[in-house]
Amino acid sequence: MSVFSSRRHTSVDRERPVRDHSTEESSAAGHLSWRYADQLAEPGILVEVKLITPGDESALLPEELTAFSKSVERVRRASGAVRVVARALLTRLGHPECAIPKDQSGAPIWPYDVVGSLAHDSRVAVAAVARRSAFRSIGIDVEIGQPLDDELIPMVLTRRERETVGEDPMLARLVFAIKEAVYKTTYPLDRIFLEHSDVEVDLTTRIAVTRNDMSVCFRYGLLSDINPHRHLCVLAWIPPI
Ligand SMILES: CC(C)(COP(=O)(O)OP(=O)(O)OC[C@H]1O[C@@H](n2cnc3c(N)ncnc32)[C@H](O)[C@@H]1OP(=O)(O)O)[C@@H](O)C(=O)NCCC(=O)NCCS
Repeated sequence: MSVFSSRRHTSVDRERPVRDHSTEESSAAGHLSWRYADQLAEPGILVEVKLITPGDESALLPEELTAFSKSVERVRRASGAVRVVARALLTRLGHPECAIPKDQSGAPIWPYDVVGSLAHDSRVAVAAVARRSAFRSIGIDVEIGQPLDDELIPMVLTRRERETVGEDPMLARLVFAIKEAVYKTTYPLDRIFLEHSDVEVDLTTRIAVTRNDMSVCFRYGLLSDINPHRHLCVLAWIPPI
């Protein structure tokens, strides 16, 4: 059984204490099902997801539009949708609605006291935010829950990962998503470009280590309750020093 079908009921999840989902900083909430929230929830990180709909492109604010001047509508729609989600989360952190532009690398620019991350495909948009005082950085990724192409497996997984994960293409997809979330977590801190081979993922400890020795914690879950496409979502973070 692949992780995608077994994940909801792993012993790890059952052993985790029941959290008070009513407090804004203790869990993911809102559109998320509680089952999904349980899998991704990390106290202090707010996570939210939205199905992308026509018209979301109009949510991009003037300060944000510059970065999308050459983008097609599909891209602007996804980036608008994810900012709808992110702005709602910022409000829950006590921030007024604000623009979330991109820097030259493409990384989102957050209010000074916030760390956050965005991800989307053509169907879903997910955002995560936290207070900078509580996390050095966070990253999020969303991927369609489909097997990774066989020929990509040796490019994405290290030798050690292939020894533990085997050649299971669904687990390989999970590792791919984890590495993307890890990159989004570390890049804003050190501005170092990472190849897949620069990140070593341990699914047991749920810690990934980069070639420059950054340790990144992660969790993952399925978005199967909000859409029929079984998206996989990974949340990564680096705690304060
Ligand atoms: C950053 C990156 C991983 C995003 O992946 P993607 O599949 O293109 O898109 P996603 O939907 O997952 O994420 C898009 C969001 O990532 C964010 N992002 C882009 N570049 C980023 C960076 N350098 N650091 C942090 N976040 C970044 C943006 O917020 C973007 O959303 P926006 O365009 O609406 O602002 C990818 O563009 C990239 O640069 N990859 C090179 C590094 C890499 O993947 N190495 C292998 C894994 S270690």
